[in-house]
Amino acid sequence: MRILILGNGYIGSRAKEVWGDDAILSTTRIESIEDVRTLIREYRPDSIFNAAGVTGKPNVDWCETHQLETIFGNTVLPIQIAQAAQEAGIYLLHLATGCIFYGRSPHEDGVWTEADYGNPVAVYSKSKYAADLVLSTLPNVGIARLRMPIDDRPCPANLIDKITTYPKVVDVENSVTVVSDLLSACYQLMQKKGVGIFHCTNPGTIRHKEIISLYTELVDPSHHNEWISEEDLVLQGLAKKKRSNNFMRSTRLQEIGIEMRDIKIALRDTMEKYAKVKNNTV
Ligand SMILES: NC(=O)c1ccc[n+]([C@@H]2O[C@H](COP(=O)([O-])OP(=O)(O)OC[C@H]3O[C@@H](n4cnc5c(N)ncnc54)[C@H](OP(=O)(O)O)[C@@H]3O)[C@@H](O)[C@H]2O)c1
Repeated sequence: MRILILGNGYIGSRAKEVWGDDAILSTTRIESIEDVRTLIREYRPDSIFNAAGVTGKPNVDWCETHQLETIFGNTVLPIQIAQAAQEAGIYLLHLATGCIFYGRSPHEDGVWTEADYGNPVAVYSKSKYAADLVLSTLPNVGIARLRMPIDDRPCPANLIDKITTYPKVVDVENSVTVVSDLLSACYQLMQKKGVGIFHCTNPGTIRHKEIISLYTELVDPSHHNEWISEEDLVLQGLAKKKRSNNFMRSTRLQEIGIEMRDIKIALRDTMEKYAKVKNNTV
């Protein structure tokens, strides 16, 4: 399979690393649909993996005051990529986010499924959800929703690094995504040309306290942080808007024969690998 990866940020670069010679990582800054058409003519891919997007620097709060840049990168750009892919008859897998769901779903168990409508609050979440709404009407397009990536090596976007670097942490419970499982699921989605929305979160949920407890056990026994409430996060000026916390269920991946590991198993395995890199024992 020949995969054209758009967006050479965190996930795009990790995908290239894992997929190796099957993938080309584009470094082109896409300004228009013509740029996408040119890339397709140049590389003639079987699939496009869209990992380009505006995530905000240093974090998503940036998007609150840079709405147009955010809307271009997260809504207009995916539509242009989808249009060029449709014209060329090429399958597109678009990376989306689970941060379009805030709190409990209307279902009794509070879990959000692929069939549910989102309730996004932040500019970032709204711009991402807008793309999901329209791209999910197209044939030959898959939408992979991830949340709070957990990776087996230190990097700023890794949830392990985020919550072990902050001096004050909120103990929330969430559905999360282990990056190795995500990239395996995405590769299979491209092979199977899965159409529509797929929740790419590991089965089960995890609390920040459980992640830090495993970090203390396997990486740094001397680790310490202060625990604060969700309200304090905004009141103390540590975030502009309340963050999305939620439980997501992935049913559509299983329907087409793709599995992600239970989060407790995947987290321990990931933390063991992370510890080896962090403590230079690899
Ligand atoms: N990491 C997460 O926590 C997370 C969670 C859920 C969903 N996602 C989604 O996954 C996707 C990838 O995220 P990521 O973590 O890899 O973010 P990232 O590190 O910020 O990477 C996104 C990349 O897209 C590039 N980009 C933006 N506009 C572009 C354009 N017009 N043409 C070409 N490249 C462009 C960015 O370049 P510049 O930096 O130079 O602008 C950046 O390199 C995003 O759609 C994000 O919404 C991420």
